[in-house]
Amino acid sequence: MAEFKEAPAGASIATQLMTWVDNRFPASKMYKEHMSEYYAPKNFNWWYIFGSLAMLVLVIQIVTGIFLVMHYKPDANLAFASVEYIMRDVPWGWLIRYMHSTGASAFFVVVYLHMFRGLLYGSYRKPRELVWIFGCGIFLCLMGEAFMGYLLPWGQMSYWGAQVIVNLFAAVPFVGPDLALLIRGDFVVSDATLNRFFSFHVIAVPLILLGLVVAHIIALHEVGSNNPDGVEIKGPKAPKDAAGHPLDGIPFHPYYTVHDIFGVSLFLIVFCSIIFFSPELGGYFLEYNNFIPADPLKTPAHIAPVWYFTPFYSMLRATTDVMVNVLSGIIGLGAVLAVLKGNFAGKGKIAVLVGALIGIVLLKTFDAKFWGVVVMGGAVVILFFLPWLDHSPVKSIRYRPSWHTYVYGVFVVFFLVLGYLGIQPPTDIGTLIAQIGTLFYFGFFLLMPWWSKLGTFKQVPDRVNYHAH
Ligand code: HEM
Repeated sequence: MAEFKEAPAGASIATQLMTWVDNRFPASKMYKEHMSEYYAPKNFNWWYIFGSLAMLVLVIQIVTGIFLVMHYKPDANLAFASVEYIMRDVPWGWLIRYMHSTGASAFFVVVYLHMFRGLLYGSYRKPRELVWIFGCGIFLCLMGEAFMGYLLPWGQMSYWGAQVIVNLFAAVPFVGPDLALLIRGDFVVSDATLNRFFSFHVIAVPLILLGLVVAHIIALHEVGSNNPDGVEIKGPKAPKDAAGHPLDGIPFHPYYTVHDIFGVSLFLIVFCSIIFFSPELGGYFLEYNNFIPADPLKTPAHIAPVWYFTPFYSMLRATTDVMVNVLSGIIGLGAVLAVLKGNFAGKGKIAVLVGALIGIVLLKTFDAKFWGVVVMGGAVVILFFLPWLDHSPVKSIRYRPSWHTYVYGVFVVFFLVLGYLGIQPPTDIGTLIAQIGTLFYFGFFLLMPWWSKLGTFKQVPDRVNYHAH
């Protein structure tokens, strides 16, 4: 047990109280470690606001969620009407509900931008691999949370969206139908499904999400934040003052708390404008079909997930029989090239050829629908491996060859195009573009060990670039 400290003679009640608490719980120590003496690089730019905004949206979702649960009924016969009751009769119910539905989309906007910042500045690289991995875990949970939450209003889109996505699990070889049954708790989406999705949405997933966010921040504060230059400010070579504080760092509080308050204000202006003037946002945040109660006997003409899932949904739809043939061709060609050009011994060459053959046979054995599910899941899973895929000698995009910027640019454009196509009904040309986009997405990551090393890199400075505003 640590020694008890005494408050100085004549100390204020507040100081005495704090001393009492600190003797029993490391409140001041934690405040210092994570706020007043957490030194963050002084060259943060506006990309660095999205972590704090993600925290803000998380709090908004939890608080509004608690109030929604007070009036919502997780029962297939009552759910739709209970949401209408919240919207029309519960005092301020409409505001709470719109905050929650807008918050869901805002969460994804903020998190996608937050992840892209990591990609730009190589924030996933050593020593921040775990920060990134916890982040990817958060992203997966967030997708699960949004998917299950979407069933709760029990509208047409809730119902049929869940039906389509849960049916995908049935495509898994051998265990698929049982797996889908386990998820639904019934042979079709029904009251049993609503009950279990409700339970996961309000308690299980939020608990995991909160745990992961805490782990994310602890891991980040253990190694320190990256910055737009990708220069380590706390490493053994980094310059420090007499007290050992990094010369290129400033305490998180008050500098970045004030900075973040400004960012939060701008965010709230946009957030409130949507809530008050366009909560459905043209059908993108709340789909019009979801204002019709779920009808298991009437399938809507066009079923599309909410916008934040559509890049991945597009990849699923792009995985047709033709795409499977193209993938088989790419694997075959890749293996032949590796054998002809690679630096392998005889056994290595045989292993590559056998591996490719097994891959092609597997591709041809199972249904394209199953491979679509694999592609869709793989698009998220691949993110976990990013720290080991990037072999570039520098972290930040600022010091990479200029053409790397274009590669990132094309990646973003394809991701947006995939998102757009996933909202639209399928067409031949749309499917073709989605197939090219899917190949680019996977090529970007899988070929990264090769292309990230290519080109002429710029000299990384010893100190961060900082210009006082
Ligand atoms: C609920 C969701 C999330 C919350 C609340 C959150 C919170 C934060 C906060 C507060 C920071 C420090 C401030 C900043 O650098 O912006 C941060 C940094 C970071 N986050 Fe997240 N995050 C979330 C999701 C994610 C996801 C999905 C990823 C990636 C898959 C991710 C990757 C990172 C990385 C790599 C850093 C370090 C950035 C750097 O030092 O340059 N985060 N996060």
